[in-house]
Amino acid sequence: MKVISTEKSQVLATRVAHALKTTIVDVNYSRFPDGEHYLRAGELDDEMIIVGSVVDNDALVQLLLLIDACDSSKNRLVVPYMAYARQDKRFHPGEPISIRAVAHVFSHGVSDITTINIHDKEVLKYFSVPAKDISVARDLGAYIKTMDLDKPLILSPDDGALAFAEQVASVGGWDVDHLEKTRLSGVEVKMAPKQLCARGRSVIIVDDIISTGGTIATATGMLYNQGADEVYAACVHGVLTGGAYARLMASGIRDVISSDTIERACSKISAADRIAHALTTH
Ligand code: R5P
Repeated sequence: MKVISTEKSQVLATRVAHALKTTIVDVNYSRFPDGEHYLRAGELDDEMIIVGSVVDNDALVQLLLLIDACDSSKNRLVVPYMAYARQDKRFHPGEPISIRAVAHVFSHGVSDITTINIHDKEVLKYFSVPAKDISVARDLGAYIKTMDLDKPLILSPDDGALAFAEQVASVGGWDVDHLEKTRLSGVEVKMAPKQLCARGRSVIIVDDIISTGGTIATATGMLYNQGADEVYAACVHGVLTGGAYARLMASGIRDVISSDTIERACSKISAADRIAHALTTH
């Protein structure tokens, strides 16, 4: 068994290889003059672990090319960040169910698929090979423990992400709640913890994805107005699009913590051990 990776998941893939006590295959990536992707892999094994987050459309194409290059029925696919999972239904007529389209193409040429904290596990039904989702919520909790905060308050941005926040909070037995939006007027919205009070507390807002950072930045300003001492943001997938990191910092966030499902300077925890464990247990 060997590990192979897309261009933007090399660090995580190497960590997975180390955790599996195997090697990572060298790959040369380039493009044809018209922009088409090309790649050439080094020496392959009969059983390949293909690792790549769909951080952008180039990564999606590279994954498809890697699956074909590996060309074995024993290929196993690991997509730590599965983009397109938020478009999981037709919100308006004429729209695609994007994750279904992506799941169809990923279900060929691999024997199974592993994802990490996919936006909604329901979408796993769209893969036609066995698909498993694993969580790094407890690893985020373990990192928060090392921050040595005094009784932090763990908040999810909405009730949909509360179960995730509860998994994080369970590591330290911390208080957990979700933010609730109240419309004060046509233009004014208030966000506050539904049941608990943020006054005088270290608050950590946790979510599966931070994309534009808009939700968390808005909530942060309001939490400081409600007397929070300090506010942090933690997520699994640091998508951080369009200046999100700077937006969060400008809102007064003390620090952003993410995993390496998307490799960022703020990737403070690794999903590698969880992936290796999921691949070696059934
Ligand atoms: C949405 O359902 C996700 O769980 C995140 O809450 C969302 O993607 C965050 O988006 P943004 O960072 O753009 O506010």
